[in-house]
Amino acid sequence: MRLKRFVIRSAGAIFLALVVAALVAYGTSSNDCDRRSAAQGELMKAIVYCDYGSPDVLRLEEIARPVPEDSQVLIKVRAAAVNPLDWHYMRGTPYIGRAGMGLRKPKVTGLGVDVAGRVAAVGSKVTRFKPGDEVFGSARGAFAEYVCASEGRLVLKPENLTFQQAASVPVAAITALQGLRDKGKLQAGQKVLINGASGGVGTFAVQIAKSLGAHVTGVCSTRNVDMVRSLGADEVVDYTKADFTRAGQRYDVILDNVGNHSLSACRRVLTPRGRYVMVGGPKGRWVAPLDRALAATVYSWFVSQHVGMFMARMNKEDLGVLRDLMESGKVTPVLDRTYTLSQVPDAIRYLETGHARGKVVIAVD
Ligand SMILES: NC(=O)c1ccc[n+]([C@@H]2O[C@H](COP(=O)([O-])OP(=O)(O)OC[C@H]3O[C@@H](n4cnc5c(N)ncnc54)[C@H](OP(=O)(O)O)[C@@H]3O)[C@@H](O)[C@H]2O)c1
Repeated sequence: MRLKRFVIRSAGAIFLALVVAALVAYGTSSNDCDRRSAAQGELMKAIVYCDYGSPDVLRLEEIARPVPEDSQVLIKVRAAAVNPLDWHYMRGTPYIGRAGMGLRKPKVTGLGVDVAGRVAAVGSKVTRFKPGDEVFGSARGAFAEYVCASEGRLVLKPENLTFQQAASVPVAAITALQGLRDKGKLQAGQKVLINGASGGVGTFAVQIAKSLGAHVTGVCSTRNVDMVRSLGADEVVDYTKADFTRAGQRYDVILDNVGNHSLSACRRVLTPRGRYVMVGGPKGRWVAPLDRALAATVYSWFVSQHVGMFMARMNKEDLGVLRDLMESGKVTPVLDRTYTLSQVPDAIRYLETGHARGKVVIAVD
């Protein structure tokens, strides 16, 4: 009896402490907007946002140009690209992600991750780059005239690519590469289906899967059928006319950028040892798409196939693999619309429609 009372009281105390801690963390959550005074020193234009919200929260401002740390590279940005990740950061959704992004306000007030440009300066420990080098890779706050990036998240830009093409590569192409090669374990001769073949990740995935020697089926809407076929897809399913989960075909790997079919329907069209790789899923305010990711993990315990979510990881080795694929002409970025720095809110509005054709880029000149 005593033990029961002790356990109940302890659990109540812990719960109360967690609630208080969460409220304090929420209340004290802040960012540099609260402390920012008139920018001094060398200035630059950049997209900043102080609060979560729609694209209307984004502002083009003059702020201090960043200074690279020892292992960082300062890039004069020539182009950036937009990813769904950017509007997740901007809106602070799903809310569960705010544990990392900042509870009440975004911790990082710059936006954009994909970047291509010219090295303007390097930190004292940087060995792979020098001023003047043309690079592409990943850097938080890429929607700006200058941004600092870790040396390990950059590679030299291939000469046969424009800055805009190079900027479109990092997040989308790394996701496609790691999803197919590492998570999907795709082998030459295997059959792969790419759901959402005409978007940022999908247009890279179709080409990368072909370069791995797979038989590729792409799923997209009517207006994108020819484009997906021109990227090398052996077969294209127009989702407005047919449902790939009911077409009687079987696939060794499904790379799912959309998540609009139930896990059991997707499993039905996998081979007995097939692999379902969830890249994206239906969006929600609180948890989604993480609920589907969790469901996929649990589902996987009970079936012979692999069913699971994966998160791409940026690294210079895979950026190098992609650079080689693009240098050899096996992969060519597909660019949709180009916007200027002041039009970033429009670029994000467009991406949020969920119907971009390839990549949406920002020209920073
Ligand atoms: N796990 C990770 O590490 C990771 C990394 C990057 C991205 N993601 C996620 O992956 C997803 C895709 O990213 P993205 O950059 O490719 O997005 P995107 O560029 O916005 O992709 C949009 C594409 O989805 C297609 N689409 C929409 N509804 C469809 C449907 N019912 N069936 C088939 N295709 C459909 C559209 O084609 P139509 O116009 O023809 O409809 C459009 O081309 C997002 O959810 C993103 O958050 C995850």
